[in-house]
Amino acid sequence: MGSKRVPIVNRSREGSSAAKSRTVGKSVRGGAGRAESAGTSILASYPVRDEPPVRVTIIEDVDGRRFYNVEEPELTELGSRVLRGLRDRILHDMGLLRLFSSIEDLGEGLREAYGLARRALAPLRKRLEKLGRDLEDEATRVAYYLARDLVGYGRLDPLIRDPHIEDISCNGLLSPVFVYHNEFEWLTSNIVFNDPGELERVVLKLGLRSGQEPSLARPVVEGILRPEGYRVHIVLDVVSRRGHSFTIRKFRAEPFTVIELVSKGTLDPGIVAILWAAIQYKQGVVIYGPTGSGKTTLLNALAMLLPPEYKVVSIEDTPEIYLPFHDNWAAMHTRLSDLPGVQNVTLQAQVESALRMRPDVIIVGEIRSREAFAFFQALATGHGGLTTVHAESADVLIRRLASPPMNVPKSLIAATKLFVHILRLERGGRVVRKVIRLDETKEYDPSSDEIVLSRLIQWRSREDDWVLTSPESSFVASIADLLLTSPKEVWRDLERRATVIKWLAERGADMLELHEVVRRYMREPDKVYEEALAETSPYTYKRVATG
Ligand SMILES: Nc1ncnc2c1ncn2[C@@H]1O[C@H](COP(=O)(O)OP(=O)(O)O)[C@@H](O)[C@H]1O
Ligand SMILES: [Mg+2]
Repeated sequence: MGSKRVPIVNRSREGSSAAKSRTVGKSVRGGAGRAESAGTSILASYPVRDEPPVRVTIIEDVDGRRFYNVEEPELTELGSRVLRGLRDRILHDMGLLRLFSSIEDLGEGLREAYGLARRALAPLRKRLEKLGRDLEDEATRVAYYLARDLVGYGRLDPLIRDPHIEDISCNGLLSPVFVYHNEFEWLTSNIVFNDPGELERVVLKLGLRSGQEPSLARPVVEGILRPEGYRVHIVLDVVSRRGHSFTIRKFRAEPFTVIELVSKGTLDPGIVAILWAAIQYKQGVVIYGPTGSGKTTLLNALAMLLPPEYKVVSIEDTPEIYLPFHDNWAAMHTRLSDLPGVQNVTLQAQVESALRMRPDVIIVGEIRSREAFAFFQALATGHGGLTTVHAESADVLIRRLASPPMNVPKSLIAATKLFVHILRLERGGRVVRKVIRLDETKEYDPSSDEIVLSRLIQWRSREDDWVLTSPESSFVASIADLLLTSPKEVWRDLERRATVIKWLAERGADMLELHEVVRRYMREPDKVYEEALAETSPYTYKRVATG
């Protein structure tokens, strides 16, 4: 499945094209009126399946509300009847039922279902043709619905298959399913569960597929959907006022790599090189920015660059981090409970316990409270560390860390080598994420109790590029000390790493290739660099005078 991203085609922006509004409007349940009014525009339209076609259209109404429209194949009245009959038959035929429940792959399900559908429809060939449908076409459509419901995820299936969708969220009955689209963010879909029975079947299927079946006794469960690997969170109606609800988080299955982030223009190979070296040499890195700016995504992408033999401990409230290639990775999360006799496992307790696991690097998903102290203490005692903090600027960040409830002494905060500022910006009508600056800790002055940060890299909006703003770097100096070499050598290594990253980005390397190259770079940097140079030009940092 997909690190391949399906291109969005047919991007058009139009006013009130009657023909277009009609086809779009028809399938926007609950949104049809709006879709037909003047000023509605189609933001994107693309197929998520070909045979039979399932299309997605994203539209924006006059008020700027955005809708996600799934258009599934239409059936004739005959086809619908045959579909109902077949569904019934399969549910009552142990052999068929067993067959369909053993199939994991939707394509295979379609092939099996096609045989059944064709046989059932064959006697109706003449009548279908009168309706302008050939037998094969209608059989493909009937097979789609059978496979969708028996092997796939029912009406959610197109959302699960659409590689642009990252989150799927259903808040109950009679409420549209919301989807998070990687380009358009939250959209209201045209999928609404009106029938409690259907919602229940979908929820039970999610439970079954994740091996975590919810029940009255255990109405809240979280599991991983097989075979897709997506995380699902289910809350039954006994504790969810508007009916069963669930959230499927797809993006975790395939975390962004630094290569993809470079390709998306979030950062450049030079920044990746610095952060890669920093975590490899067990320096502390803090990523900060507002909610939804991509902090956790960047943290995960960087963590994937850690040497695979490192002992890594990650600690989170909600599990988001995923490291596909680190065997010695302990993934901890918290458990909060009000029940008597149930141990409350807080973030702070987990960070403290992590330190006793002899980690090379400790990763805290997000620091908010008292766990901060233990994290920075870990940095100060020579562990590598990676975390994110919600803050709008470097000043606010330091102030937040130093005041309640975190209360980290500034002398400890200064154990962090690099601070990465990431933002979510609108540029040319598109949402982009940008690392806008990289600061390093220059010094801690005990007499004034101040940390002096110095800017190492700055993003320039007009040029949309990144420049080195300081010829000297205390980070580079400390790596040079560590490796008993000169800063100049360290800069050379950083440029070599950046060249390798640039090369991989140009090749569109996937997660596995990146992992293999990073692993080899540890052992034979020169050889990997030569390979990169055979296909790309060397990366050099752009230097500008500070001013
Ligand atoms: N560089 C990026 N480019 C495109 N989408 C991104 C990028 N970084 C994050 N996202 C998307 O933005 C959403 C929020 O990202 P996340 O890393 O959870 O943000 P934060 O931790 O800052 O709240 C996710 O859906 C994620 O897939
Ligand atoms: Mg986050």
